[in-house]
Amino acid sequence: MSHSPPAAIRLRDLVRRFPGRGAATTALDGVSLDVAPGEVFGIVGRSGAGKSTLIRCVNLLERPDAGGVEVLGQDLLALDERGLREARRGIGMVFQHFNLLSSRSVAGNIAFPLEVAGIPRAEREARVRELLPLVGLDAKRDAFPAQLSGGQKQRVGIARALASRPRLLLCDEATSALDPETTGEILALLRRLRDALDLTVLLITHEMAVVKAVCDRVAVMQAGRIVEQGRVFDVFTRPQHDITRRFVAEVIGHAVPPGTLARLPPPDPGEVREVLQVLFAGPHSTRAVVSEASRRFNIDLNIVSGRIDEIGGEPFGLLALAAYGAPEALAAATAWMRELGLDVSAPDLAASPTTPAEPA
Ligand SMILES: Nc1ncnc2c1ncn2[C@@H]1O[C@H](COP(=O)(O)OP(=O)(O)OP(=O)(O)O)[C@@H](O)[C@H]1O
Ligand SMILES: [Mg+2]
Repeated sequence: MSHSPPAAIRLRDLVRRFPGRGAATTALDGVSLDVAPGEVFGIVGRSGAGKSTLIRCVNLLERPDAGGVEVLGQDLLALDERGLREARRGIGMVFQHFNLLSSRSVAGNIAFPLEVAGIPRAEREARVRELLPLVGLDAKRDAFPAQLSGGQKQRVGIARALASRPRLLLCDEATSALDPETTGEILALLRRLRDALDLTVLLITHEMAVVKAVCDRVAVMQAGRIVEQGRVFDVFTRPQHDITRRFVAEVIGHAVPPGTLARLPPPDPGEVREVLQVLFAGPHSTRAVVSEASRRFNIDLNIVSGRIDEIGGEPFGLLALAAYGAPEALAAATAWMRELGLDVSAPDLAASPTTPAEPA
């Protein structure tokens, strides 16, 4: 019999409505989510999807109108004010705009939550001394927020969130105000901290690149609901929902540019042309499959667009192929590729912002 550890976060059927003039907004429309201990879990969605409302329910900055919120095995909705204050010490939060106190030094900002909690000065200072090197800010101890770069400010925000030794870190668009390189550094820091401190991280973003860089699993939100979730590799390589496909296309370009297709030569008489999207996410190398399929089935395979990439150390390739040949030969080649365990589908023709590879 296997005993799985309790989820770090367990949300059940959360509903949150905001009354407005006219119709109310349903920011959360029945959201359930389990985040395992030690995971970096991403939530992605367009503006207004309900991401911030959801993450704020995890520490009850926002109270759901209905549903359950369990964090680290504790039913937060059952706690009184004092119990909730206690529980919140186990939940750190990092914000997009850092929310630092401009009149306080780096050390003063990091120590602030400890001060509020009534921790004695000596203990606060000891904790700050531990945290500064962890986030790479040893040299900036006495600097003020106005003297820091965006990335340094966010390091302060992260150290402050960690001051009370939380088990769980909530990040609401923690890198959205940063340039791509600084974003990469902050994401790498979050992963290091997760490993070093045994944290669970719930991270909200509107950028799939962030999810790809740092998350183990991801949930996609739309209009107050989770429409899809899974391992990042699976969601990127086999997106099920339209909105997910569009998000993924921003990063790995599932979509085949229509202009590229329009430029393909027509098939010879007696032959047909079919455009196939082939996903390689297993042991078979792209090149061997393409050349062997042309030989075996006497067809021509032209690469229309393609990408080879890696997610969480797992390689995958995504090729759009224009196949020319007798109809039976194309059908047989497709069946053969599927037997090898490759995903073969019609390409996604949505306009893509990515630059196409030149047709071969
Ligand atoms: N305090 C509030 N009062 C009224 N409506 C709200 C409030 N907070 C959120 N909403 C509404 O709830 C919906 C979800 O908002 P939320 O902030 O959770 O979205 P989000 O996914 O975080 O968006 P963004 O990417 O822009 O931050 C939106 O329609 C928003 O206008
Ligand atoms: Mg938000």
